[in-house]
Amino acid sequence: MARAFLERKELEEARLEAELLCAHALGLDRLRLFLQLERPVEGVEVDRARDLLVRRGRREPVAYITGKREFYGRDFAIRPGVLIPRPETELLVDVAREALDGREAPRVYELGCGSGCIAVSIALEVAGARVVTCDLSPTAVSQARANAEALGAADAVEVLVGDGLEVLAQRRASDDAPLDLLVSNPPYVDPATRGTLAPEVRDYEPELALYAPEGDVDHWTRALCAFAARHLAPGGALLVELGAGRGEASLAAAREAGLDAELRRDLARIDRVLVAHRRAE
Ligand SMILES: C[S@@+](CC[C@H](N)C(=O)[O-])C[C@H]1O[C@@H](n2cnc3c(N)ncnc32)[C@H](O)[C@@H]1O
Repeated sequence: MARAFLERKELEEARLEAELLCAHALGLDRLRLFLQLERPVEGVEVDRARDLLVRRGRREPVAYITGKREFYGRDFAIRPGVLIPRPETELLVDVAREALDGREAPRVYELGCGSGCIAVSIALEVAGARVVTCDLSPTAVSQARANAEALGAADAVEVLVGDGLEVLAQRRASDDAPLDLLVSNPPYVDPATRGTLAPEVRDYEPELALYAPEGDVDHWTRALCAFAARHLAPGGALLVELGAGRGEASLAAAREAGLDAELRRDLARIDRVLVAHRRAE
């Protein structure tokens, strides 16, 4: 019944989402839902499931309904006002691990923490890493702090509120450790394409997290390259997630800033990450 309802709403993953939402209404995970198929369901649980399905039928994202999303093998708490972590962003963590391989107690800065998924994953995956991250959204900052705490990374992740590169530059001024990595998945969607976005994204996710400032889709790449050229340690790396089709422009921005750069593709073979290095002296 739940699946048929979501199919009528033309949701592509109706079966999976129906299972997730029914499990959530019963306070179970999906596996336990299958293990308890014979369990009688109470009226209040049916009402709860119906409410969740109606919300999904209105195109509210599953992660906002269940309050969580898996990223790099861990569950991150998510709430409205915080961008839902995307699978393609896991590539940033893969490349960060490669870039930091062999560096002792590496220092990492991030612009735009959102849920904290990148900062917390790097802190937990790279031994000794210490991460400073920031966000202009107080909702994102409090969510990232809560996730760092819940996932056991609070000692390794410092979350600042404020305007990204300014707040990071201020933090650098009182930080003696050389900067090994600067990473960001910045807002890069062209606001002119708003009408082409899925309703889940367009109507529910925070505009501050989605849209490039003043429609300049390369704004953050250029700003991050300039910051990296100034603040990275020699041999340090800058990683920036890119929107589709921005590979060449990002390489040009890196070269302009005097960085050596290359692109990494995601599983869909889209140039997804700019990898730029400050030359070793
Ligand atoms: C695309 S989201 C990425 C969130 C998270 N890192 C992830 O990958 O799921 C971009 C983040 O940048 C934040 N942001 C936008 N403008 C900012 C600014 N000027 N300074 C700091 N953060 C900013 C947004 O609030 C949002 O959380």
